[in-house]
Amino acid sequence: MSNKSKGHVVVIGAGVIGLSSALALLEANYTTTILAKDLPAPFESIDPRGQINFTSPWGGAHNRWVPPFPTVPSTPLTAAQQSEHALRAREHAFSLSTFHRMKHFQSQNQAQQAGITFLKGIEYLETPGPEYLSLTAERASQELGLPGTFRVLESHEFPDDKITWGCEYDTWCVNPMQYCLFLLGQIIARGGKVFKREVRSTAEVFQLFSDGVKEFGETLPKADAVVNATGVGMGDDELVFPTRGQTCLVQEPCEATVTRQNADGSWTFCVPRGYGAGTIIGGTKEPDNWDPKPDPQARERLLRAFEGTYPKMLAEGKTRLTPVRDIVGRRPTRKGGLRLEGEMVDGAGFVMHAYGLGGRGYELSWGVAEGVVEGIKGYLEKERGSRL
Ligand SMILES: Cc1cc2nc3c(=O)[nH]c(=O)nc-3n(C[C@H](O)[C@H](O)[C@H](O)COP(=O)(O)OP(=O)(O)OC[C@H]3O[C@@H](n4cnc5c(N)ncnc54)[C@H](O)[C@@H]3O)c2cc1C
Ligand SMILES: *[C@@H]1O[C@H](CO)[C@@H](O)[C@H](O)[C@H]1NC(C)=O
Ligand SMILES: *[C@@H]1O[C@H](CO)[C@@H](O)[C@H](O)[C@H]1NC(C)=O
Ligand SMILES: *[C@@H]1O[C@H](CO)[C@@H](O)[C@H](O)[C@H]1NC(C)=O
Repeated sequence: MSNKSKGHVVVIGAGVIGLSSALALLEANYTTTILAKDLPAPFESIDPRGQINFTSPWGGAHNRWVPPFPTVPSTPLTAAQQSEHALRAREHAFSLSTFHRMKHFQSQNQAQQAGITFLKGIEYLETPGPEYLSLTAERASQELGLPGTFRVLESHEFPDDKITWGCEYDTWCVNPMQYCLFLLGQIIARGGKVFKREVRSTAEVFQLFSDGVKEFGETLPKADAVVNATGVGMGDDELVFPTRGQTCLVQEPCEATVTRQNADGSWTFCVPRGYGAGTIIGGTKEPDNWDPKPDPQARERLLRAFEGTYPKMLAEGKTRLTPVRDIVGRRPTRKGGLRLEGEMVDGAGFVMHAYGLGGRGYELSWGVAEGVVEGIKGYLEKERGSRL
């Protein structure tokens, strides 16, 4: 271990959350090792059935600004709304951190290599809640701190008369596996170690990395802390459940990422992959549905709904999008929201949990990674202090 290291952290998981956390830990000068059952790889080489529990390949992934409830509501918030507000306010702060990090990659001329595209986000809502209806350009910039421009759409810009509210803003999308491979490359360049291995528990990880134990052909430093970034993978947390998402990759590019929320709770959206790699058309949200097979009827519904909402995406003279392949994924959802907290696990050691990101893993990733570093730093500094 180099003498500038502040300790050795082992991250379990190499989805967007494990990778972002590992890179943030390396930047904060922790010696960092990743241990994961699945590693990022070219999209076509990931097995849609065998690796369906590895969610990061199957994501969109775009950033949507999700406003917390207005701070000065016309009617007082109920207790349930208040706790929902606190969750959303934290997630909003995380999405801002991530946006700034994406801009940072762009400023380092890494956007293309990382598969990051900056573009307009367009939202159409059939039945907007008060958090949307109270949104103005002024509130978006002053209260929510949204970077770039924000504009509430005028009704003549809506695709049909079911839409009653809409807006557009500056945002980003990533091509998921290209972005994750980029993070992996950054981790390795900074001296991070990566091993492909499935583990059963955090205790097993502390054992693997005890002093003097030879593993993977070398003697590794003992683990001072472990990060649990296992998505839906290593579960005994009963609050975690999968939310099935089916999308379809189509050939056509799109110049914006468009999201429509329908009155019946269904969603219609597109997430461009950029750089000629087509566009994801989505998508279903099916809690507790474990079916790994794509449903051809759902594909047809999704494509028709998007063609109706955003016909601009169709090439001149064409009426249908060109499907390339169906995608099914399991969003690692958690009742009560994501888990980002430290825990002393009996018979193991200090574990920083970072899972339960649901449908927002990419857009919240850097806020979570910063939280992981803060949690590890807090624990290790206290521990070192008490040993002096
Ligand atoms: C259809 C769809 C659309 C989506 N769209 C978006 C979007 O537009 N924007 C957005 O932000 N998010 C989106 N998401 C959500 C996003 O993809 C997830 O939130 C994110 O990928 C979760 O990342 P993760 O790192 O927590 O989990 P995962 O990617 O599942 O990674 C878990 C890691 O832990 C490892 N692991 C698990 N168990 C073990 C074990 N026992 N031993 C060793 N390793 C283990 C796995 O191998 C893997 O490396 C979408 C998801 C789907 C399905
Ligand atoms: C990490 O170490 C480098 C080299 O010693 C130093 O320049 C940098 O400030 C350190 N960063 C942090 C966050 O401690
Ligand atoms: C996915 O996870 C579930 C729940 O842990 C498990 O039953 C299933 O076998 C896993 N699927 C694959 C392909 O690993
Ligand atoms: C680690 O994360 C999983 C979710 O993948 C969760 O079920 C489990 O309780 C967490 N904690 C430990 C100590 O493994």
